[in-house]
Amino acid sequence: MTRNTTDGKAPAVDAVTCAGLRYSFGETNAVDGLDLSVRDGEVFGLLGPNGAGKTTAIRCMTTLLPVPAGMVRVFGHDATRERMAVRRLLGYVPQQLSADAGLTGRENVALFARVFDVSRNERARRVDQALAAVDLTAAADRLAKTYSGGMVRRLELAQALVSAPRLLILDEPTIGLDPIARTNVWEHINAVRAATGMTVLVTTHYMDEADQYCDRVALMHRGRVRALGTPEELRSGLAQRLGTEGPLPTLEDVFRDVAGSGLDDQSGDFRDVRSTRRTASRVG
Ligand SMILES: Nc1ncnc2c1ncn2[C@@H]1O[C@H](COP(=O)(O)OP(=O)(O)OP(=O)(O)O)[C@@H](O)[C@H]1O
Ligand SMILES: [Mg+2]
Repeated sequence: MTRNTTDGKAPAVDAVTCAGLRYSFGETNAVDGLDLSVRDGEVFGLLGPNGAGKTTAIRCMTTLLPVPAGMVRVFGHDATRERMAVRRLLGYVPQQLSADAGLTGRENVALFARVFDVSRNERARRVDQALAAVDLTAAADRLAKTYSGGMVRRLELAQALVSAPRLLILDEPTIGLDPIARTNVWEHINAVRAATGMTVLVTTHYMDEADQYCDRVALMHRGRVRALGTPEELRSGLAQRLGTEGPLPTLEDVFRDVAGSGLDDQSGDFRDVRSTRRTASRVG
């Protein structure tokens, strides 16, 4: 989707557009008619309970999964017909660990530079830049298995940044990190954004992060977007509907309102799952 401009310039192309996206694993409709636009330059949060379809949708956007029905575009490039063009535009930090514990930080980032086609004569400089951007210069020549959970997540961020993406996609970048490490990851993301104007699409189960760092959020449930807006719009929208006096509802209240009974039929609370997947224990 594009937006009209009033100043006579060409309309801005959205960073991501999904229309009617569907993806099924057998009988499970993981993504079930997803409509979504991420604007150029914004930080967009894709929220939703376990199993909502966030990772599956992201994997379609990154071309790691095909688009069996519907349409996905990244800066106007079709994810089915122009896969290489799409891949060149994005950096991706997957939900699962993507760093190799047996390599040093620098070797991990260099590997991504090769895979993402960073030209040979620029590689060393870009690897250094990416490591510096996440504050890992001093630890660059240590094996990744000696890193703390926060350092591992920052290393994965460097891997995704080394190709200087216009769109950075992060699937739960702060899961299992302590509050200081979480803030630290966001500070690094925001510094790169400020310098480059990069668009960020992020999933998180931490509502406070979504509230603080995202320009807009979409609440996804059972494969579709159920609510969309700025955190402020969503909170005041719920307040109006509830019509009660008192403090503004939190984004967590909005989340519970949207996901409703759907949260109860998940096996276990999403907090439990979260705590079993601590980043710190994933390496080594
Ligand atoms: N490889 C797979 N094979 C079969 N089913 C899958 C596979 N990956 C995901 N699913 C199912 O698809 C649905 C959506 O899963 P997905 O991982 O996209 O959700 P999510 O929103 O990312 O959840 P979480 O918050 O736990 O990461 C779930 O019902 C899940 O069980
Ligand atoms: Mg996921």
